[in-house]
Amino acid sequence: MASLHLVTGDWRYPWRMTKEIGTLVIFGAGGDLTKRLLLPGLGQLVDSGRSGDFLLLGVGVDALSNSAWRARVEKSFASSGATGMRAKALAAKSEYIRADVTEPAELEALVEKCVGTPAFYFALPPRVTIAACEALSRISLPDGTVFGLEKPFGTDLHSAQALNRKLVKIIPEQQIQRVDHFLGKSTVLNLLGLRFANRILEPVWNANNIDKVDIIFDEELALEGRAGYYDRAGALIDMIQSHLLLVMALVAMEPPSSIGAEDLRGAMAQVLRATNVYGGRAEESSRRARYTAGTIKGRKLPAYVREPGVDPKNKTETLAEVVFSIDNWRWAGVPFTLRSGKALARSRKEIIITFKDVPHLPSGFAGKTGPAELRISLSPDEISLDLNINGEGDPFTIDRVVLSTEFAAGELKPYGEVLSGLLANDPTLSVRSDEIEECWRIVEPVLSAWKKNSVKLETYPAGSSGPKSWRSK
Ligand code: BG6
Repeated sequence: MASLHLVTGDWRYPWRMTKEIGTLVIFGAGGDLTKRLLLPGLGQLVDSGRSGDFLLLGVGVDALSNSAWRARVEKSFASSGATGMRAKALAAKSEYIRADVTEPAELEALVEKCVGTPAFYFALPPRVTIAACEALSRISLPDGTVFGLEKPFGTDLHSAQALNRKLVKIIPEQQIQRVDHFLGKSTVLNLLGLRFANRILEPVWNANNIDKVDIIFDEELALEGRAGYYDRAGALIDMIQSHLLLVMALVAMEPPSSIGAEDLRGAMAQVLRATNVYGGRAEESSRRARYTAGTIKGRKLPAYVREPGVDPKNKTETLAEVVFSIDNWRWAGVPFTLRSGKALARSRKEIIITFKDVPHLPSGFAGKTGPAELRISLSPDEISLDLNINGEGDPFTIDRVVLSTEFAAGELKPYGEVLSGLLANDPTLSVRSDEIEECWRIVEPVLSAWKKNSVKLETYPAGSSGPKSWRSK
């Protein structure tokens, strides 16, 4: 199956197209995100020929020579196979600047070094991003400046609203890209082609025919040294509040008129506005747990609370599950269960659409039946449909068959895809301010119930499939 080729550029609003980006500035250049994800994605993008020429500036608080920075950039590029002439040339011209991005004077000096229109990518913790925005609001920026902001965007609804208000005072919303790399995953984008380029699905894509939807993102990875960030976020904020609610919005949205930025994001925002914790009761519709010591594929892991940098008082969950309802005509009554966890026995990243069973199976049939299931796997990129058909031998015995295929791999890694949008100032794959605020609004009742301890924090051994009481679906 061919992967969907997204039409970039919001052709319906040509007057919004801005100047080409001349300089990409990465704040937090010394960080893990830059090394592991941003630069490898950027290298691939540049080598693919899908970006124009630009200057790359890395900005960090540590001292680093230009040659050491360039070697780092080349190494990160090489980790994604980006060893072509274009990537090499970008690394060779790249520069590193030591600066405190919360100081207006240092930012002014930085802006001076930019060639053409700059794009600033904030690969920074939320509180530093907020302080950097405060400083940016005090200086003047070139016309057309673009911001790329990493998740988590704010730390709750209130802070996200405050940050949004601050940002639009600095540059227009159209030039602000709130990055969610899940929107750059090729299978997530393939959801659009699957849903809207096949007439066969739309008539059954509703509460009359669908019984439930599960969006699962179970990882074998554990904390992996990220306590500084994760211990304050936990699985709910790290995965459900951001990535999985957006995936849900793509699964559940109304067919948009185009996949231009405003139509796509407008349709996603509409679903999010209709989303609530199922039954309005976070105590009953959410569960949380934390891993204890265990072994995953021969790798011994300490209990989460014993990981360096973890404060047990934070009561951080490493596994979260919440059931939501989408309160509109299409989805009334259908539970959408979103779950994500770390240090689990097996990596399982998929969307499962379970259809309703047939209203009547003609008597005389024997064998196993069950509702049809459509599984869209986010890793590996596959799709399968479980159906009932007449089995081998006796034609009146029903059997289960699986029709499956692989999605073609995307040309770029997710970060390459989102950076492509940033450099073209095309916000299609970024999250609009109202979507971000809705995502925080949706999880607020859960955060508050968990804070009050109204939902027990359960445990599971690392390497298991979760607490015993949670039956794996
Ligand atoms: C990140 C989360 O945003 O997404 C991580 O902070 C998670 O905790 C990761 O592991 C999953 O994304 P990917 O692209 O690695 O599958």
